[in-house]
Amino acid sequence: MAPEENEASISVLLKEKRSYPPPKAFAKSARVSSAAARGRLQARGRKSPEKFWEQAARELVWSKPWRRTLDWKAPRARWFVAGRLNASVNCLDRHLSGPRRNKAAIVWEGEPGETRTLTYLQLHREVCLFANALKGLGVVKGDRVAVYLPMIPEAAVAMLACARIGAVHSVVFGGFSAESLRDRINDQGAKVVVTADGGWRKGAVVRLKDAVDEAAKSCPSVTAVVVLKRTNTEVTIHEGRDHWWHRLTAKASADCPAEPLDSEHPLFILYTSGSTGKPKGILHTTGGYLVQTAWTTKNVFDLREEDVYWCTADVGWVTGHSYVVYGPLACGATVLMYEGAPMHPRPDRFWDIVERHRVSILYTAPTAIRAFMKAGDEHARAHDLSSLRLLGTVGEPINPEAWRWYREVIGGGRCPIVDTWWQTETGAILISPLPGATAAKPGSATLPLPGVDAEVVDRAGRPVPPGAGGYLVVRRPWPAMLRTVWGDEERYKSQYWSQIPGMYFTGDGARRDKDGYFWILGRIDDVLNVAGHRLSTMEIESALVGHPAVAEAAAVGRPDELLGQAVAVFVTLKGGRAPSPELKEELREHVARAIGPIARPSEIRFSDALPKTRSGKIMRRLLREVAAGRAIQGDVTTLEDLSVLARLQQDEES
Ligand code: WTA
Repeated sequence: MAPEENEASISVLLKEKRSYPPPKAFAKSARVSSAAARGRLQARGRKSPEKFWEQAARELVWSKPWRRTLDWKAPRARWFVAGRLNASVNCLDRHLSGPRRNKAAIVWEGEPGETRTLTYLQLHREVCLFANALKGLGVVKGDRVAVYLPMIPEAAVAMLACARIGAVHSVVFGGFSAESLRDRINDQGAKVVVTADGGWRKGAVVRLKDAVDEAAKSCPSVTAVVVLKRTNTEVTIHEGRDHWWHRLTAKASADCPAEPLDSEHPLFILYTSGSTGKPKGILHTTGGYLVQTAWTTKNVFDLREEDVYWCTADVGWVTGHSYVVYGPLACGATVLMYEGAPMHPRPDRFWDIVERHRVSILYTAPTAIRAFMKAGDEHARAHDLSSLRLLGTVGEPINPEAWRWYREVIGGGRCPIVDTWWQTETGAILISPLPGATAAKPGSATLPLPGVDAEVVDRAGRPVPPGAGGYLVVRRPWPAMLRTVWGDEERYKSQYWSQIPGMYFTGDGARRDKDGYFWILGRIDDVLNVAGHRLSTMEIESALVGHPAVAEAAAVGRPDELLGQAVAVFVTLKGGRAPSPELKEELREHVARAIGPIARPSEIRFSDALPKTRSGKIMRRLLREVAAGRAIQGDVTTLEDLSVLARLQQDEES
């Protein structure tokens, strides 16, 4: 592994040394246009985060002003107390009385190539129709609605329609399996499921409705399923339960006054993986979430009226919530939305889209950037990318090589890059450059945004010196923070607010350099980050143990050039079952079926024992090393010396 080590130390060196000031032409007209200007904002945020966020909140439309900005009794925060507003009004209605009325809100492109544009006026109408359709199905304020749709405008319509009537949406990524969908529906007790006959992905139809049918067999809370016709795929319609979207909206009224909601009214639940137990339903509320997603959209992306803004995330992830739907629509942006796979039908699909729609802001994930880089420069070079003026990344640390490629080949050297750190739980970006003000260092998310008190600390909560590793925490509440884990307040307290006394613990390790820049070192718990998506080792292990041949399983992440981390699993079989390539394939499929294709292990190793501590805990650190160290040996199916390793380790401990 010598070359890899070398590369790692070189990139650490480069991380330290190279700094890219904001391109002059960009900085000149940026919203925040110098380090000094950012400094002033930071100072304001430090002096009084409440005042800082209060000013941001004034940019939204409130039907009743708040009485107090923050009510904080750890770990319970209430922002803009007693204020009333509606997220759909802020994303739609308020734009209708000015020049944005007929501006494109969503420019959509399907994978097969068709396009559709919805102006703010048209989107508003669709949302009102669908909100009334939901009401007609008996959905009332506070009810949960599960949304299981492809990347089509109706995903945003469904979310905003829920927000309009005070229903709580819970979007489930269309790549998740029926089983995962069922667990999420049952955890939240969803009344209605919104889905489509299918969606396009890599030229094939993903049969979403079939998955819903399978899931709904054991979802007693579901009284209705709404089905959008997208692919014209044959589906089974369950009379009495299933309704076609177009039939419901054809009958509905386009007049749907928005419900004025308390600032702390739940807006959505989004499930994400934790280190223990089943996925957690992260609950976000209305006022604080909208204030901070809008502020960050405007300032981190330096958003302009004429921008064509493209965040490539699926609405099934938090990035799709905050930076495809709520943040940009609250700012009146033109949002580009693309349904399908990044390299379909050719590796230049993204660049073709950028060229044809004149995209000016592109926000995507390091894993995608690495895949494009690998596919070769020629695909990007074949297109006119001169409309781009700002690039962003999110989801995992970006390696400096990919960062530079993004800057040069995609950004033509003229576009600043914002490397944005945040989480499902934080709701909005917390650590990021402001593109006209902050010098970038490839691989660093740079500095906490104004009004955000992030720090790297030791176990006792003391800041660590520059260069030293520690835990990434947030010391004061921020408006878009999660409010609880749905149905599990204890877990909320213990996972986020108990590990480092008095602070929010992110689960990430980090260090700060001498300039105060943050370098995220990755998760310190058992959460994997595969292609920017969070998976827990525990979910994968329980899926494996559910297979009749498996006695025990341990999942770990191993470094992967493309995915960031790949899933590697160690499996011990039940007596009488022998390892074989077929079984290996079967187990990989088994995990993909149970959770979704993103969880499919890249590597499976059979072993007759797993290394454990005396108390019986699997020694993941050891397995991680084994997985990383032996990755190049390809097809070694059994790990003969694992039990030896285990014995050695046990000897060491005793
Ligand atoms: C990681 C995605 C380094 C981190 C918005 C975090 C990052 C987890 C970055 C959250 C970044 C996200 N640099 N690491 N710019 N952005 N991460 O909940 O480990 O899907 O805790 O939210 O992704 O993933 P989640």
